[in-house]
Amino acid sequence: MMSIEEDVFIGAIDQGTSSTRFIIYDKSAKPIGSHQVEFTQFHPQAGWVEHDPIEILESVKVCMTKAIDKATANGFQVDKGLKAIGLTNQRETTLVWSKSTGSPLHQAIVWMDVRTASICRRLENELSGGRTHFVKSCGLPISTYFSALKILWLMENVDAVKEAIKKKDALFGTVDTWLIWNLTGGVNGGLHLTDVTNASRTMLMNLKTLRWDESTLKTLTIPPEILPKIVSNSEVIGNIAAGWPISGMPISGCLGDQHAAMLGQVCRKGEAKSTYGTGAFILLNTGEGVVQSKHGLLSTVAYKLGPNAPTNYALEGSVGIAGAAVQWLRDGLGLISNAAELEAMALAVESNGGVYFVPAFNGLLAPWWRDDARGVFIGFTGHTNKGHLARAVLESICFQVKDVIDAMHKDSGADQSNKEEFLLRVDGGATVNNLLMQTQADLLATPVIRPVDIETTALGAAYAAGLAVGVWKEDYIFDSKDKLQNANIFRPLMAEDLRKKKADSWLKAVSRSFDLADLS
Ligand SMILES: Nc1ncnc2c1ncn2[C@@H]1O[C@H](COP(=O)(O)OP(=O)(O)OP(=O)(O)O)[C@@H](O)[C@H]1O
Ligand SMILES: [Mg+2]
Repeated sequence: MMSIEEDVFIGAIDQGTSSTRFIIYDKSAKPIGSHQVEFTQFHPQAGWVEHDPIEILESVKVCMTKAIDKATANGFQVDKGLKAIGLTNQRETTLVWSKSTGSPLHQAIVWMDVRTASICRRLENELSGGRTHFVKSCGLPISTYFSALKILWLMENVDAVKEAIKKKDALFGTVDTWLIWNLTGGVNGGLHLTDVTNASRTMLMNLKTLRWDESTLKTLTIPPEILPKIVSNSEVIGNIAAGWPISGMPISGCLGDQHAAMLGQVCRKGEAKSTYGTGAFILLNTGEGVVQSKHGLLSTVAYKLGPNAPTNYALEGSVGIAGAAVQWLRDGLGLISNAAELEAMALAVESNGGVYFVPAFNGLLAPWWRDDARGVFIGFTGHTNKGHLARAVLESICFQVKDVIDAMHKDSGADQSNKEEFLLRVDGGATVNNLLMQTQADLLATPVIRPVDIETTALGAAYAAGLAVGVWKEDYIFDSKDKLQNANIFRPLMAEDLRKKKADSWLKAVSRSFDLADLS
């Protein structure tokens, strides 16, 4: 029998790009109940990706209810012990809704959507600083990726948005903001909030002041009154309203998914993680100073664990398509019936047989920043079979991560021969694939370390929430000895000359993917 003191739980909503989860953790940060649902990806045109904001809300509700039911059925007194919940979410995805009715004024425009390419070109041409005009303030180049561009598209193309802005009835939010507003009451007093990490992906927040940047808003003509208030990652921000499961429960942590994964991996200054979900996101904690990349990486907030806590920053390389390429093999091509089949198919051949794949479905993000790139498969011969395709897809994920890590090494001026000392912490759904992990270590020439719990995104949100309500102390969270104890380490085994040859072949393939957006 558990004692009453032990009945302490923290919940985490993880609203990702492909799926939503709710995970409940006990006091030792072990998951004791969870539920996950996939939701619809809309592709109304080539390069466009949308989500239904209402379906997202429903997915959160279902996951909360079912995870609580499962944990309760397993004997955990969640109703008594749950202290707070944290929230983490797909970043940059942009919503505008009506303050008075609560209705979305358009589908959510997803981070990987490239409909704003022409707005980007226009701004790059008009602004004195070109593509890097706003980098000094927000750490980001002008790119289809970030929310500000998506807001401009909605302001220019959607009548309902134009009218609501005129009537001062429009609210903008990333997914965290949409969820918090609805979870805290919606039209009945919902709180219009975001956190520093999500705000750092809009292009509109000044990285140093952690406030909306007035000059950026003016230049882009984005009305400040549609923007949410910015809070830290770990503080009680509100309580769940009636109509939701666990109404009255405090929401005490909020971070963008990649920042949450970084906290879940307890990355301190100098430590890096790579998360393999829909995309792949590599973040290196650079401590309390903003580091500006010279090699195509972003500067972003890592985390700020309390209103008065110091801010940690990060260098980030974002890869748009990682696990999504595996989903495409399953749903687009029907080559596999589930993601787990990929490893066996790839292991049926010894090498990629000279086949390379660049999954530039929506252009390429870091470090290339080419929204004109599209996917290419190259190097086919009569000898090519589906095993080679499977290998090429796995390798494409690892090469894209390698391109980012190489840029990080260049930015930090690290001696390339010291790469063995660099250790990459990995997490996310695709890391169950051992061949993927071994390939990553081989191509990087760096050990890769995979923790037992690969759901570090939700874990990070739980840590932030638990910290704010006193369930955990910062020392406990950052004591990583335990967490890495049973981790799997993949060490590089590939011969150096082969690694170099393969890296050259990959770069050749990447160059072939450019300037293909106008194929018809
Ligand atoms: N065995 C496997 N090999 C390769 N990829 C896999 C494997 N299993 C799952 N994946 C991929 O991992 C991804 C799912 O990972 P995860 O559950 O972390 O994503 P997610 O959290 O839903 O994504 P996001 O947070 O980006 O929305 C899918 O894209 C899937 O194709
Ligand atoms: Mg995720």
